[in-house]
Amino acid sequence: MERIVDLRSDTQTQPTDQMRQAMARAVVGDDVYGEDPTIQRLQELAAAKVGHEAALFMPTGTMANTAALMAHTHPGEEVIFEELAHLFNWEAGTYANVAGLSARTVRGEDGIYTADQLRSVLRPSNPHFPPTTLACIENTHNNHAGSVWTAAETQAVCDAAHEEGIKVHLDGARVFNAAIALKVDVKELTKPVDSLMFCFSKGLSAPVGSILCGSREFIDRAYRMRKRLGGAMRQVGVLGAAAIVALETMVERLAEDHETARLLEEGLNAFDGIQAHRASRPTNILMVDVGGAGWTTEQLIERWSAAGIRCNPRPPTSVRLVTNRHFTPEDVTYVLDVTRDMVDGKAVAAGGG
Ligand SMILES: Cc1ncc(COP(=O)(O)O)c(C=O)c1O
Repeated sequence: MERIVDLRSDTQTQPTDQMRQAMARAVVGDDVYGEDPTIQRLQELAAAKVGHEAALFMPTGTMANTAALMAHTHPGEEVIFEELAHLFNWEAGTYANVAGLSARTVRGEDGIYTADQLRSVLRPSNPHFPPTTLACIENTHNNHAGSVWTAAETQAVCDAAHEEGIKVHLDGARVFNAAIALKVDVKELTKPVDSLMFCFSKGLSAPVGSILCGSREFIDRAYRMRKRLGGAMRQVGVLGAAAIVALETMVERLAEDHETARLLEEGLNAFDGIQAHRASRPTNILMVDVGGAGWTTEQLIERWSAAGIRCNPRPPTSVRLVTNRHFTPEDVTYVLDVTRDMVDGKAVAAGGG
């Protein structure tokens, strides 16, 4: 069978056997009537894990983020994003075309912006300007090579925002990667914010689902927003059961993904003309620039694909790689062997195994 090494995203992860068994056995009910015990357990577990009062299961991270924007703001208000934020760039403009918000951006160092930078984009109350009512941060930061906000950085931006009467939402799709990288309890990164969402369906390997967390009052509002987005589900505990296993068994092992990312970064950087980059506080995402070797993104993808290696394009000369539980140290060696053949000008053969 052809060998496939899929580094496009940690969303490629398959549910574990334990998840599949838990899904088959899940006790379920109609969640629209508040009668699904499994999803209720998940929501309580998730809220407790991140130190918030309440939580609400969502089918996707995008829907969780959108519901959060809607629950915190009113149409006509303004939200602050980091320039390369997923919420601003990769969620089909829902902040504008669904939540009715305008946006201002801040350019963060490694995706991390400061309290002063936040203050610098706030404008005085004036009928010419939309009122700014929400600031968003992203931890880990997807498009800044998986960089990590520390607890102190998070707290500083939250303090500044709160002084100005602005709420803070954390897009924490991979916030457990951040906690593992920093070796801190995730609460240190999640308690200062007014709301957060995180995903079960990325490195934590559940097949579907994200969760929105915040105060009871915020979650009550978000519930209505989820309904408006069409996201009220019925025997959803089937999905919740896998998410519970994800929370209980898959968090600590994220360190393995960070280690394979480190090995891959080190190995790729040994080739002339290839620059692999992880953020200064790294996790499981690498940006790899092959321009120095004279290759375009397209050429690299074509040749890696021939050997079963998949990645995400970042044209004109880069790709994004995301390590995950299916990517082993042996796969690191395989990717490096294939790349060495390319550097040496040898034909790439599809690998076996
Ligand atoms: C940082 C970040 N936020 C939000 C999302 C959206 O999650 P979903 O694909 O479940 O909608 C992603 C997905 O890749 C992400 O990387």
